[in-house]
Amino acid sequence: MKDNIYILGIESSCDETAASIVKTNKDNNKLEVLSNIISSQIEIHKKHGGVVPEVAAREHVLNILPTIETAIKKSGIKKEDISAISVTSGPGLITSLISGVETAKSLSIAWDMPLISVNHIEAHIYANFINDLTNINYPAVILTVSGGHTTLLKMNKSKKILILGETRDDAAGEAYDKGAKMLGLGYPGGPIISKYANEYEKNIENKKKHLSINLPRPMINSNNCDFSFSGLKTALLYEIKKDKNWKNNIPAYAYSYQKAIIDTLVSKTIYASKISKAKTVMLSGGVSANKELRKELKNKLEERFSNIEFICPELPYTTDNAAMVAAAGCFKYKNKQFINNKKLKADPNLQLK
Ligand code: KG4
Ligand code: ZN
Repeated sequence: MKDNIYILGIESSCDETAASIVKTNKDNNKLEVLSNIISSQIEIHKKHGGVVPEVAAREHVLNILPTIETAIKKSGIKKEDISAISVTSGPGLITSLISGVETAKSLSIAWDMPLISVNHIEAHIYANFINDLTNINYPAVILTVSGGHTTLLKMNKSKKILILGETRDDAAGEAYDKGAKMLGLGYPGGPIISKYANEYEKNIENKKKHLSINLPRPMINSNNCDFSFSGLKTALLYEIKKDKNWKNNIPAYAYSYQKAIIDTLVSKTIYASKISKAKTVMLSGGVSANKELRKELKNKLEERFSNIEFICPELPYTTDNAAMVAAAGCFKYKNKQFINNKKLKADPNLQLK
């Protein structure tokens, strides 16, 4: 094995076409992102209020090779220096995944390089390992919150992952997106709900009028690590139907809705940390970009436990990106976890192993 290892990461599981080069070294687990390019489709899907799979597929096909080319160029390395190609093979939209997987297979054959298959949730988790996180105390509890997943996991020292619980219906990101749609705020819902919620919180702090909206925290007291968000979404719908003036109270609704989501996520993560005797808690996935969630989880962990370390990814590695795919690839490369470059198939329901 050469001293320096360079992994090309490719991500196309939903609506972002992304490529990245991450550098590591055979003697340590430091991960350095040399480039992280995202060709975003958000502006295209905004018009439709959510991702249109057929449109996303077409955009991936058009953008994938230029995105990879830019990522290699920006990294300052040559394609001959790449040690392996790491690609998201699932879960996700099949018509989107297929672009990344087939491109990675073709490049792996043409350039005669090993191929690594990465699960999208696993990639989100490895976003926490970017830069220098070599000294994590295990066991670690990880809350993965994205548009498609809300999962609590436990990771041990050998980085083996155990699923503690997951959502029984909607994911937390999906709850944000559907809530935003109901309030007429557009797509993606997370950042816009969070913006209105922050605005409203400042009003409360300044002692301006506070409109109290009663929303449920489904399953918050069930003694398990599962979630359910579909009832919350329905409750929001009933509340705005009752209120003739709801369009003038959007910040109040956004604030109460976000609070219900965050209270549930924090409470379940505390429970998972307690039963797992966690020494570290990590956040991952697109919703982990949420500042209020980061702040609330950190504060509550500090209140409840004397020595749990809290880690979350840097903002560019929270929502879908390829640096996280390359980061997971770095660890798999060292463990020689390669996959046959003729046989890999995109799998929309790929399970975590
Ligand atoms: O991980 P991600 O980029 O894609 C999936 O794997 O699904 O997550 C996207 C989700 C969307 O539902 C989006 O609304 C949410 O992450 N999101 C946020 C924030 N930024 C993105 N949710 C809450 N607060 C944010 N700041
Ligand atoms: Zn994601």
